[in-house]
Amino acid sequence: MFSKQLPNDFLWGGAVAAHQVEGGWDQGGKGPSIVDVLTGGAHGVDRVVTDGVQAGYRYPNHQAVDFYTHFKQDIALFAEMGFKCFRTSIAWSRIFPNGDEQQPNEAGLQFYDDMFDELLKYNIQPVITLSHFEMPYHLVKEYGGWLNRKVVDFFCHFSEVVMQRYQGKVKYWMTFNEINNQRNWKIPLFGYSCSGVIFTDQPNPEQAMYQVLHHQFVASARVVKRGHQINPDFKIGCMLAMVPIYPWSCDPDDVIFAQQQMRQRYLFGDVQMRGYYPSYLLKEWEIKGYQIAMQPEDATILREGCTDYLGFSYYMSNAVQFAARDTAASIESVDGSKRNPHVAASEWGWQIDPVGLRYTLNALYERYQKPLFIVENGFGAVDIPAEDGTINDDYRIDYLRAHIAEMKKAVIEDGVDLMGYTPWGCIDCVSYTTGQYNKRYGFIYVDKHDDHSGSLKRSKKKSFNWYKQVIASNGENI
Ligand code: BG6
Repeated sequence: MFSKQLPNDFLWGGAVAAHQVEGGWDQGGKGPSIVDVLTGGAHGVDRVVTDGVQAGYRYPNHQAVDFYTHFKQDIALFAEMGFKCFRTSIAWSRIFPNGDEQQPNEAGLQFYDDMFDELLKYNIQPVITLSHFEMPYHLVKEYGGWLNRKVVDFFCHFSEVVMQRYQGKVKYWMTFNEINNQRNWKIPLFGYSCSGVIFTDQPNPEQAMYQVLHHQFVASARVVKRGHQINPDFKIGCMLAMVPIYPWSCDPDDVIFAQQQMRQRYLFGDVQMRGYYPSYLLKEWEIKGYQIAMQPEDATILREGCTDYLGFSYYMSNAVQFAARDTAASIESVDGSKRNPHVAASEWGWQIDPVGLRYTLNALYERYQKPLFIVENGFGAVDIPAEDGTINDDYRIDYLRAHIAEMKKAVIEDGVDLMGYTPWGCIDCVSYTTGQYNKRYGFIYVDKHDDHSGSLKRSKKKSFNWYKQVIASNGENI
């Protein structure tokens, strides 16, 4: 019979990344990671990569919201909301402080054992990203980051160690978070956070970016194959930032331009979900004369390591005009993009488009015919507590409600196979693009501010109880 509801095993939850919540950057034997040398910025003020940790700078990820010592309290709040799953990442440099060791750091492994046990106590499934914008800093200083093929082996060793260790506790994995961000190689932060490489410092930045990607595609495929050997029940996904690009108009030049821009996103799903390079990319390399170093066995590795599902983040859509193609790219934008007059935008310029989520779900499912997982969605805003301390974040509820409504249509009316929904930053955390505390996404407020003051005290926002009843009704009461 036609079901008018989401499936009963739908994975409602929330998402964060290790470096944006944990803090404890030098605790428990952890080595410095690439985010530990990344300063705080603001909207319009770039984060800076310093040469090592230097006096006189603020590094927001050093303390973040101290999930490292608060995780039991925070997980109890997730459980109160009824989370079925919790997405976070494992900080590679907690397990291998330098990245090139053979033996892991037991204190780091124990930390994640404790966290996973706490989640499982409440029947919350961990959903784990292996690489979410961090890697040991040593691998960048000594090896040049992911441009060096040796890093493939280091990453596979790290992944093998954690998959072996947590095989009975973690079923859902993802390899690289928003791997496609670095396709936008003109923005230093994107390359640096995805691979430890600042592409604009390279003699041929775009070719270097494709070389890095090849290494990560091979690493992802090897990890998928090995993971399935460790535990055949593992579900291992890839993860993309999905910003659908609309043609600005029905001018055929705008339509084909938008299609070309979409390929810069699809490319990542095409390789990781299908197991080979698409013809449009091979042509691009041929036309541009790019030589990407590959090993003879790589084609087989890619084919044998296709991911089981596609996880993606969805925050906004974009629209591009061919005539504006030389417009400089900006952090929330792409070449040729123009403000879409049909949708609103957040304070940070991110265009709010719930229908774009339904469109994206359909486009991805038609292309890959494998399960999808919305592993990030949310509204970054400045929350100002009222005099009595309450935080009435109706704007966040409105955003999420509208997106959940469209998500339901994609599943119930369009037949998309969707595993779950984990809104971003379920507890306030450090913003990735700006390093701010002030850009908040959480259902749980954390008293911590951009000048680094604050007690770290947790409190429930209005959206906390709203999301709780969304989950309790399996998305019926939004
Ligand atoms: C995604 C990332 O880009 O968006 C997260 O996977 C990030 O790490 C999130 O935090 C929101 O971006 P921001 O810059 O608002 O924190």
